[in-house]
Amino acid sequence: MYKKLEVNPSARNAIQSGHPWIFSGKIMSALSDYENGECVYVYCEGKFLGTGFISPENSICVRMISRSRLEINREFFIQKFIQMQRMKKMFLSDKTNMYRLCFSEADFIPGLIVDYYNNNLVIQTNSAGVIKRRDIIVEALKDVLMPVSIIDRTDIDTYKLEHCENPSLESILLYGSLPDEIPVMKENDILFYVDLKNGHKTGFYLDQRENRELIGGISRDKSVLNLCSYTGGFTLYALLNGAGRTVSVDVSGKALDLLERNIKLNKISPEKNENVKEDLFEYVTNYDLEQFGIIIIDPPAFAKHVSDSRQAEKAYKYINAGVLKKVKPETFILTSSCTSVVNQDMFAEIIEKSIRDSRRDVKIIKKTFLPADHPALFHFKETEYLKSYLLYVL
Ligand SMILES: C[S@@+](CC[C@H](N)C(=O)[O-])C[C@H]1O[C@@H](n2cnc3c(N)ncnc32)[C@H](O)[C@@H]1O
Repeated sequence: MYKKLEVNPSARNAIQSGHPWIFSGKIMSALSDYENGECVYVYCEGKFLGTGFISPENSICVRMISRSRLEINREFFIQKFIQMQRMKKMFLSDKTNMYRLCFSEADFIPGLIVDYYNNNLVIQTNSAGVIKRRDIIVEALKDVLMPVSIIDRTDIDTYKLEHCENPSLESILLYGSLPDEIPVMKENDILFYVDLKNGHKTGFYLDQRENRELIGGISRDKSVLNLCSYTGGFTLYALLNGAGRTVSVDVSGKALDLLERNIKLNKISPEKNENVKEDLFEYVTNYDLEQFGIIIIDPPAFAKHVSDSRQAEKAYKYINAGVLKKVKPETFILTSSCTSVVNQDMFAEIIEKSIRDSRRDVKIIKKTFLPADHPALFHFKETEYLKSYLLYVL
């Protein structure tokens, strides 16, 4: 059905251990024989290894879809979406109507993100294989989920990187309709305005749901500082679980405006929260942190490429050590890193060094990972981008 592609034994070993990418240097076949985005059957020394998408001009040349011999058509996507929906819903109650339906390689559709927001679907297509099959993917999503809208939020640079035609718009309504007003979603019965067209990522940081629950559980009567608050996920959980007050800090005025609206939407009295439009580094350096019993540090990805990793390490270290030094005794700190460029071991080392520098006695209460709707793969660290520690400072 699909063309054969021969790889070397090093790629075979990687595929067999579950790594889904084959780099161009490991391919024995002539790459000029393949079209961008087509499906291939991968072989090594005559033995079948699996099915993948090929991007012949890229260094990440093949992305594996399965160790089986598959035909990638509308029915394939339908079956995948049914299976993902069934599994993911097992971890969610009807108090939550937003979650990640499809997480790319980790859900075995490499390059495809689909986030579900109460019958609206927001997709991102990050490989030529899925960009070229966008139409059948949309049809399959309609068949399985019967959405009211499907929006494409693929980053415009991706089309260039994947050598695909550029649609020139970053937010495209692919199907259905979306009202002009920002729609309301719920997570654990907490209401949020989620800007599906223009918000960060696909509109909401779905990946922090379980950490928000963790903070909700310890917030009673606490004063909570939410650093890099975005639209107030942690702030709302804290206030609705009895926090005395919150301070929410972000550089984005738009995010803070939505945070204010989210407070009203949940009928919380506005004076319980103070919004501060400020840079994280300035805040940590110049403000009093002794007034807080819980501090959340959820900065943006300080590095997107390995070449920036030293810079990112410095930034994490500055913030974490700075906070640890300045808090009063018996303060909880939930600190996160959301870039795979700083892996789990590197982040552990940063936190360890920050604790050492601060000369404080610090307990690790929990190490947390992504929620169940964001699965991971062994030997593929890119899927484990979010890692967090809940610390308790004596
Ligand atoms: C990972 S998101 C936080 C998500 C949030 N915790 C939630 O649960 O929705 C990072 C946030 O940091 C903000 N940000 C980026 N650079 C910043 C800076 N230098 N200082 C403060 N906030 C910053 C972004 O606007 C974004 O809202």
